[in-house]
Amino acid sequence: MTQIHATDRDGSKHELAGRAGSSLMEILRDGGLAIEALCGGSCQCATCHVFIEEPWLTALQPPTDFEAAALEDQGSEMQANSRLACQIPWMAELDGIVLTVAAEA
Ligand code: FES
Repeated sequence: MTQIHATDRDGSKHELAGRAGSSLMEILRDGGLAIEALCGGSCQCATCHVFIEEPWLTALQPPTDFEAAALEDQGSEMQANSRLACQIPWMAELDGIVLTVAAEA
């Protein structure tokens, strides 16, 4: 049962299973993708920066001011669909999500 379709920084494709009780960052990191998560998921390092495709992007809660500030402060390319994966709890509504890990800042 694949629930996450992720493209890593090197272009490699990964199929991962969602995991209730975990953040998207934890699932990607544990799946071996290039997610450093230096701050451990406390919304400070932006090393879990991902680009999330529609329709999943609009299914998410909008970023908090804290997340938006962390995204603006990070050095890699920002896009309208930029999010910090540590701020996204896994939920059934994300089934089939398509995302790409952002370039290193
Ligand atoms: S893990 Fe540091 S901001 Fe997400």
